[in-house]
Amino acid sequence: MGKKSRCGGCFGWFIVFIVVIVVICAVVYTVKKNKHKSADEGPAPIPGPPGAIDQKYAAALKLAMQFFDVQKSGELVEDTISWRGDSGLKDGIQADLDLSKGMYDAGDHMKFGFPMAFTATVLSWAILEYGDQMAVVNQLEPAKDSLRWITDYLINAHPSANVLYVQVGDPKTDHGCWDRPENMTEKRPLLMVNKTKPGSEVAAETAAAMAAAAMVFKASNQRYSNTLLTHAVELFGFADKYRGSYSDSIKDVQNYYNSSGFGDELLWAASWLYHATGEKSYLQYVTGQNGDDFADYGTPSWFNWDNKLAGTQVLLARLTFFGGEEKSDSGLQRYKDTAEAVMCGLIPDSPTATTSKTDGGLIWISEWNCLQHAVASAFLAKLYSDYMLTSGTQKISCSGDSFRASDLQKFAKSQADYVLGKNPMEMSYLVGYGKKYPEYVHHRGASIPAKANVTCKTGWKYLEKKDPNPNVAVGALVGGPFLNETYIDDRNNSMQGEPTTYNSALIVGLLSGLVTTSSAVQSFA
Ligand SMILES: *[C@@H]1O[C@H](CO)[C@@H](O)[C@H](O)[C@H]1NC(C)=O
Ligand SMILES: *[C@@H]1O[C@H](CO)[C@@H](O)[C@H](O)[C@H]1NC(C)=O
Ligand SMILES: *[C@@H]1O[C@H](CO)[C@@H](O)[C@H](O)[C@H]1NC(C)=O
Ligand SMILES: *[C@@H]1O[C@H](CO)[C@@H](O)[C@H](O)[C@H]1NC(C)=O
Ligand SMILES: *[C@@H]1O[C@H](CO)[C@@H](O)[C@H](O)[C@H]1NC(C)=O
Ligand SMILES: *[C@@H]1O[C@H](CO)[C@@H](O)[C@H](O)[C@H]1NC(C)=O
Repeated sequence: MGKKSRCGGCFGWFIVFIVVIVVICAVVYTVKKNKHKSADEGPAPIPGPPGAIDQKYAAALKLAMQFFDVQKSGELVEDTISWRGDSGLKDGIQADLDLSKGMYDAGDHMKFGFPMAFTATVLSWAILEYGDQMAVVNQLEPAKDSLRWITDYLINAHPSANVLYVQVGDPKTDHGCWDRPENMTEKRPLLMVNKTKPGSEVAAETAAAMAAAAMVFKASNQRYSNTLLTHAVELFGFADKYRGSYSDSIKDVQNYYNSSGFGDELLWAASWLYHATGEKSYLQYVTGQNGDDFADYGTPSWFNWDNKLAGTQVLLARLTFFGGEEKSDSGLQRYKDTAEAVMCGLIPDSPTATTSKTDGGLIWISEWNCLQHAVASAFLAKLYSDYMLTSGTQKISCSGDSFRASDLQKFAKSQADYVLGKNPMEMSYLVGYGKKYPEYVHHRGASIPAKANVTCKTGWKYLEKKDPNPNVAVGALVGGPFLNETYIDDRNNSMQGEPTTYNSALIVGLLSGLVTTSSAVQSFA
């Protein structure tokens, strides 16, 4: 009797065993599938379902998402904000373009293409990573709707391969008015970049936004997704081939969204295009000579509308956590090491912890719109901690000390909690959240009664009114406190009291990550 025959009866049991396993798997799969069907449409969450909902962050997320509706230009399909109406309907008309959609930048009525594209990239990233968590609190569709409001605009702003319209409105004229968007009558000139006057940072950021959004819409609208990807590829080619900063090409933009360089946006866009297409050339682009030229390996930086390096490092680190052959790519390792240096700077107990913070622990880099850096850092920390948890990575090392995913989580929560009221002022900087929040937000539309018939000049009296804003700029994330943690709630205090759309994208990303206890992030694939 050979070994085989010794277990003649085992084969039958083996069959039974296999059948049982298959049945269990099928049942589990069906249960999981149905569970998600009931939540919201969109791609199935991989690898795990969202955990328990944290009501505090859920409430904050729902508010934050609404600020995109406050900022919408064009013909409003659904008037979800009672005091908003159609506006900017003729934007782009002088160039035979429909630039009516998109979003106003801040408390004014400018459409600045550079930060608007950044808003779309960050919002896409949030949806790609945390769309399943948004869905359980019914925020996935609003997020996709707001994203599309911007990408529809970006598509129209890119009428041919090497032409991109990057601004609607003249800031001097626009800022000379205090009116409602619905009552604007001032001229709305356009600015463009092209082959002779290039703008690599704005073209590349727009490419990044469209590549990321192409992935968001892939499952629900393949045609739209393809359109976005075509634009993204073309814009990246334009940005890379005709290198130059829009700040040099068009000196006027220096007064508002001055760019400090385009190398970071080229790497950021190529990274998004690699995720969207899987084409090796984009990976080689970031790990080769361009990386040497622009990546500033080893040096931590602050993620914001002007500097995409920290975001690029985290996005590329993703590949070394979850990728296939990319895991052992030594070029990518340099990005991951730098991402880790960024994380080490954020963890308060780390030997390399940043000193750029308030006594209460809020990351604080600049007086103007200080919260953008705190929230952006927290969003990246939340992403990194989830990459660690999902990939089973125990620790990161900071100059010899090691830290866990939970240390990054704790940091991310500390920034969110500060913003939501756990601060010396005991006020929330997210408008509409909590008992005390800014009532004199620097926002024209919010400051003027909805039915008022104002002109550019007659509206100024509403800036000076002593009463709180008649309309709540719901979900606005204002600029934030001074380094000494005080805040002056004054309508003319634009340094502290003016919200921006990119602030909203960043806090939506952070809150979406915190809204459930799940550690799982979606695969982009
Ligand atoms: C300004 O808005 C008000 C209220 O929506 C409207 O009645 C009025 O016609 C508008 N005026 C102009 C000049 O657009
Ligand atoms: C190229 O862009 C510059 C800067 O915006 C603009 O002045 C110029 O007219 C554009 N060229 C063409 C051919 O449109
Ligand atoms: C804009 O940025 C460039 C490059 O960093 C700098 O040289 C220039 O002075 C800045 N312009 C203004 C108005 O701040
Ligand atoms: C709004 O004001 C303008 C002049 O400022 C006037 O021509 C127009 O008739 C007014 N519209 C309404 C609806 O009152
Ligand atoms: C806090 O800092 C601001 C800006 O530097 C300053 O104007 C204000 O007086 C300071 N407040 C206190 C209470 O120190
Ligand atoms: C608002 O602030 C600006 C400077 O930022 C100043 O020029 C203007 O006079 C102030 N307006 C009022 C009404 O206080």
